[in-house]
Amino acid sequence: MERLSLGQYPTPLVRLDAASAAYGRSIWMKRDDLCGVALGGNKVRKLEYLLARARAEGCDTVLTTGGAQSNHAALTAACAARLGMECHLLLKARGVTDLRGNLILDRLFGAHVRFLDTDSYDDIYAEMDRLTAELAAAGHKAYAVPLGGSTPLGAMGYVRAVRELSAQCAAQGCRPGCLVSATGSGGTTAGLLTGVRAYLPGVCAVGVAVDDQPFQAIVAQLADGAAALLDVPAPARPGDFRMLRHVGPGYAVPDEGDIRRIRELARLEGILLDPVYTGKAWSGMLDALDGLPEGDVVFLHTGGAAALFAVDLPGLDATNP
Ligand SMILES: Cc1ncc(COP(=O)(O)O)c(C=O)c1O
Repeated sequence: MERLSLGQYPTPLVRLDAASAAYGRSIWMKRDDLCGVALGGNKVRKLEYLLARARAEGCDTVLTTGGAQSNHAALTAACAARLGMECHLLLKARGVTDLRGNLILDRLFGAHVRFLDTDSYDDIYAEMDRLTAELAAAGHKAYAVPLGGSTPLGAMGYVRAVRELSAQCAAQGCRPGCLVSATGSGGTTAGLLTGVRAYLPGVCAVGVAVDDQPFQAIVAQLADGAAALLDVPAPARPGDFRMLRHVGPGYAVPDEGDIRRIRELARLEGILLDPVYTGKAWSGMLDALDGLPEGDVVFLHTGGAAALFAVDLPGLDATNP
């Protein structure tokens, strides 16, 4: 399958000795936040496949969407810039729309940013179609990347990541029982699920929903699509998938418990989690730790650090020192 090389892989797999001691469980972290593009994150592996398809189709422009502070949008802008492609971001005018966090990065990467005052991605996709036609009339060919890059093709990035991880586990003595990640649009968890079925049989892919969507079904459907794209079989196995939920007060709104755990990991390990995705997934994972399958726990760090500089962090000022 065609793939562009955009990130620096393999990303490190590290054992979190201090966090493991604190929680009485062997916890490892796969550092996809260190993938070498912008501030890092999971979208780069998906974009390696999606933008390869865009290139193969002769596109010179990329369109995508997300919330105002979308990590996916910022990483799409970064990858498009690197490939010499124009990038248009049609973002929901919800949340933090002033020039903070990822919106600074969008501007630095030279993306065209437009806000749409709607709660519906259907409205945004209709506007993407209109923009695609407008660009075509001006002689450009645009490739539309859907929300979060979560298509079966995008999920291939995480199938490949599990193959990479399985080699690292063998070399480093990590014996995973589960592989945990944040679930926001479903493609990463779907790729991990397809990946463990193919390359780490017996391991459970655990998604932690940070938004209220029917992820059990969304992930299963994306995983079926990803498996269909593979030419190695990825049969379902009992216990290979579990969804947890840790939304808290709402999407992109952390509570004080999340901030306490973000602060704790920063101080134990010198590692940053974000308040929208990884902080909530980490927190949801710790809440469920006793019920997770036996073996080492591997947490996939999916990036998102820019949100630390955009979203309010409740209770942080009360933590001095
Ligand atoms: C930092 C971060 N982690 C996790 C996710 C969730 O990934 P996915 O959209 O593939 O479910 C996203 C994107 O939504 C993200 O930006």
